[in-house]
Amino acid sequence: MAAIPKAELHVHIEGTLEPAMVFDLAERNHIDLPYDSVAELEAKYRFTDLQSFLDIYYENMAVLRTRQDFHDLAAAYLRTCPEQGVRHAEIFFDPQAHLKRGVSIDTVITGLCDAIDEYRDQVSASLILCFLRDDTAESAMATLLAAEPYLDRIIGVGLDSAEVGHPPSKFAEVFQRAREKGLKVVAHAGEEGPPEYVREALDVLGAQRIDHGIRALDDPKLVARLRREQIPLTVCPLSNVRLGVFGDIREHTLPRMLDEGLLVTVNSDDPAYFGGNVEANVAAIREHLGVTEKQLRALAENSVRASFLDEQTKERLL
Ligand code: ADE
Ligand code: ZN
Repeated sequence: MAAIPKAELHVHIEGTLEPAMVFDLAERNHIDLPYDSVAELEAKYRFTDLQSFLDIYYENMAVLRTRQDFHDLAAAYLRTCPEQGVRHAEIFFDPQAHLKRGVSIDTVITGLCDAIDEYRDQVSASLILCFLRDDTAESAMATLLAAEPYLDRIIGVGLDSAEVGHPPSKFAEVFQRAREKGLKVVAHAGEEGPPEYVREALDVLGAQRIDHGIRALDDPKLVARLRREQIPLTVCPLSNVRLGVFGDIREHTLPRMLDEGLLVTVNSDDPAYFGGNVEANVAAIREHLGVTEKQLRALAENSVRASFLDEQTKERLL
């Protein structure tokens, strides 16, 4: 399976920050950590829901300070792509989480792009700027404006962080501006939140893909629409289990989504926190959900088709 060309469409670059790198960067930047060892930090990775994960995800970001740090973070991820068959990655980043800490958007984007350029012969990669939905719409708009000088390096915008209580419609205006700027649109929806959020992401934000979308299955009319319009869903099985959306990988509804004719892709979300990369997710659904070799090939093909690559490049990868 590793040899099958695929795209990763749902990976947060800050979620690839491995515990060992937290310690390395803390030392380099003279930052005191509230843990004495990697093991002590890892012991905190027992999440009960999305928020319990987000708390530590944002806390660990404190070690990311310089252009070199963002380069090293992205380089460590991109290096792992060829061995997984990942030929193309559309990478989320959370600028607001860095701006808040006094790190400039220039530092973040130039650092990430240094790595993307360095690894371009092994894997193509582009950036998707995510807005934090538990922050204000004004902050999101200010972030988009700050990013506008860098739009030649950003393929699209997304929406992430704590979902429940923060419907997509809160960000109608900023996504409208992003669309006017020619940016692609994706949004996390239906991870913990209701099917209505998936509808809003499509109808109000103009989302071209839905990140997660698993709770759409609660609404047969929405399922019919997602099938009819072949809206790509970037599903992250190990993430869903680690965040308690499913009690066990054997309860994951990915096979049902495939049976329903939905355009599903498999992704890692935050591989440093949830037990592994795309390949680990693929191995888990093969082993525990009985997903067949043929289905795995279809999932890989879906990931390329659902990417924002041009049609010619997609055909070359397939
Ligand atoms: N940010 C990083 N990972 C996330 C997830 N799984 N859901 C929402 N926001 C996130
Ligand atoms: Zn995510």
